[in-house]
Amino acid sequence: MTTRRRFLANLGMMAGSGPVLCALQALGIGGYAHAQEWRGLPVGLGQGKHVAVLGAGISGLVAAHELEQAGFTVTVLEARGRVGGRAWALRDGTKVDMVGEAQQTVAFDAGNYINAGPARIPSIHHDFLAYARKFGVPMEVEVNSSRSAYLVGADGDRVRMRTAINDTRGRISELLAKAVNQGALDQTLSSADKERLMPFLIKYGDLNKDGRFLGSERSGFIAPPGAVNDMMQKPAPLELSRLLGNEQLGMSLFEDFPYMQATMFEPVGGMDRVHMAIAKALKVPPVLGAEVVRLRQSPDSVRLAYKYGSGGEMRNLTADYVISTIPFSVLRQIDTDFPRSTKAQIASVPYDASNKVAFEAPRFWEQDDIYGGLSFVGPPTALIWYPSTGLHSKRGVILGCYNSGKVAQAFQALTLEDQIAASRAAIEKAHPGNGKALEKAVVVNWSKIPFSLGPWPDWNEKKPELPHDGHIDDPVFRALQVPIGRVYLAGAQLSQTPGWQEGGIHSAWAQIEKLARRAGMSRATEPMQPVVGSAAHRATE
Ligand code: ALA
Repeated sequence: MTTRRRFLANLGMMAGSGPVLCALQALGIGGYAHAQEWRGLPVGLGQGKHVAVLGAGISGLVAAHELEQAGFTVTVLEARGRVGGRAWALRDGTKVDMVGEAQQTVAFDAGNYINAGPARIPSIHHDFLAYARKFGVPMEVEVNSSRSAYLVGADGDRVRMRTAINDTRGRISELLAKAVNQGALDQTLSSADKERLMPFLIKYGDLNKDGRFLGSERSGFIAPPGAVNDMMQKPAPLELSRLLGNEQLGMSLFEDFPYMQATMFEPVGGMDRVHMAIAKALKVPPVLGAEVVRLRQSPDSVRLAYKYGSGGEMRNLTADYVISTIPFSVLRQIDTDFPRSTKAQIASVPYDASNKVAFEAPRFWEQDDIYGGLSFVGPPTALIWYPSTGLHSKRGVILGCYNSGKVAQAFQALTLEDQIAASRAAIEKAHPGNGKALEKAVVVNWSKIPFSLGPWPDWNEKKPELPHDGHIDDPVFRALQVPIGRVYLAGAQLSQTPGWQEGGIHSAWAQIEKLARRAGMSRATEPMQPVVGSAAHRATE
């Protein structure tokens, strides 16, 4: 998300708490402990109990898998005709339906795809990676940062990432060296540190022995070295004012954020491969095309009514418990008998917006030394995302827009044609002459995607000083963790990382643990009710 999480917005402005957090984490001071230790639920604990899981995104699928492992009978109801939720790879023939827009049909070459939702997994998301491993889904590297990519300023000034990073470092080191040599820091630095700082700055900034920055090979070449007479030519350094004048300069720190490492992971063939593999391993396959429209509870069960299939046939399902991973943006439209105060809380959850615009094109970016990574171009489209897969094949799928936040709210109000035109223009700015090579555009506005109606909640909407991730301490966020009778709400939306699948896994674990504890206690006091027949049978009762 760009200003994907306020952290990134802050980076873009070189102000606020984001860079501080980033700097702390880069230094290893911020810390990011493994969120939970998961040992699984006690085997056999769920015998005789039936859980309906609403939603076959990562959270629902993990909940279903773990509950089944513990002996529960599980029925997964999924409103869409596919599993994955927001993990959705758009491939040739995929239909994209959005509220209020004409249907789009993806027409990429065979094998090409774009992850419309989650598209990168950081190495610190151990638990998503563990499920991918457990279910045998091959992963490949997602190149999330390339020193060859560009920072494009509002005035069109285009600077390669490696130039921006190394010339800025050189210029800042030069300034600091000057200050030290002039004695300006004598009150701040001990003489021992002063002595040690100069040799360090010379290395860090690639300065000459007088503390001057005359350009660095780290910033790239005018011409690379070649045969006998082709000597390397390094470019003249950029002036500090030009570097500071590029509004995207702060985005050169992007990869220092532990969630946005230079190399991340993606499942081979599309993000939803993981979800397909988990779903395939379930004892009872998810019921697809099952849109829950009503939920009622009694002291000992939950009754669900759902529309099934294209004909909209009404079906009922009764379960002992429900895990609902339905986004709050959707849940608030469903007829439930939740207490009025709970309904009001669900209705109050603020939602973010996020958009992606993809094109297929010949791989002109590879001719420009770019193999994966991101170019940052600023509002309204925020960034260009190059494919990490299919390198050197004929054509690839490139993102011309991935935005979120207020900019994305305004962007999604444009016509699809205008969104495509803005995305094409952004790519043209970074890659002059190539805008016309972009074909087969597809737009995804998550706020308009049925059964999602938004990318993730923005719990800290009213606290712009806080980053979105990891700092949620909202009374509604806390209240919705508490089961509503026999209904447990879950999903990344109720985790500290609402925009990451890892959060969906942790939320699922937290809720099924509560559910299992309760089911275990009730088993100690109630006679066991064997579940007759399969969950699929019960789904049509
Ligand atoms: N997880 C989302 C991203 O990678 C927010 O941008």
